[in-house]
Amino acid sequence: MNNTNITNAIELLKSDVKKVGFICAMDCELEAVTRLFDGASKTKYGSITFVTGSICGVDAVAAKCGVGKVFAAICAQTMILGFSPDLIINTGVAGNLSDSLKIGDIALSRAVVQHDMDTSPLGDPIGMISDINVVEIESYLPAAHVMKSCLEDIGINCELGVIASGDQFIASAEKRKFIKEHFSAISCEMEGAAVGHTCFVSGVRFLVVRALSDDANNDSPEDFPAYCVKVSEISSKAILAFMEKLGK
Ligand code: ADE
Repeated sequence: MNNTNITNAIELLKSDVKKVGFICAMDCELEAVTRLFDGASKTKYGSITFVTGSICGVDAVAAKCGVGKVFAAICAQTMILGFSPDLIINTGVAGNLSDSLKIGDIALSRAVVQHDMDTSPLGDPIGMISDINVVEIESYLPAAHVMKSCLEDIGINCELGVIASGDQFIASAEKRKFIKEHFSAISCEMEGAAVGHTCFVSGVRFLVVRALSDDANNDSPEDFPAYCVKVSEISSKAILAFMEKLGK
């Protein structure tokens, strides 16, 4: 996108988005977001604690959902009903599938897919979500492009593409190859597509922003714990840069 298009995307974001929701799977990922909050307070809905406040003068709400698609969908739906965010950003860490990215870089969703959704014995494409009958769910692209431009400004390498989610930690060449090749995915994690699916059925904008903690291969069981906290800091920088743009 050129500068004029980015300026237009920022203007669109400012008029569309008055409150941003953040959903993270783990405590270290949530901490990287909530430390950016001003005037934070806590509200509990069921088992989920929501932090409300503002970032750079923009209303915000954040919660830890837990690991996996079911927890993520429960959290997204509760956040939508309880706090009415205009945009939900699912952030945290992920496994890298792209040749253009490395640990510490950021994957941004153009769209999300569920790599473990499979009704192909019934004649459907692998990954197709029955009832809505799509494989890919598209993210809110103005936010994706503004986030990409913010990252480029602060020197963080990133790529916009398909992010694949499933209830599996990917740590083998075989699974990596399947997800990368079948869905043309740049990254894999365990919640983004569930947040996207929930947002899609409720008509809420969403974006997935993931700092890469491992390469979704045999090294991942060691790399993931080693890099998780460190790369969560990079997501935090990304969010701050984005919210600064939105708040200006
Ligand atoms: N989150 C971070 N790394 C991951 C991986 N390799 N698979 C699934 N989720 C992840």
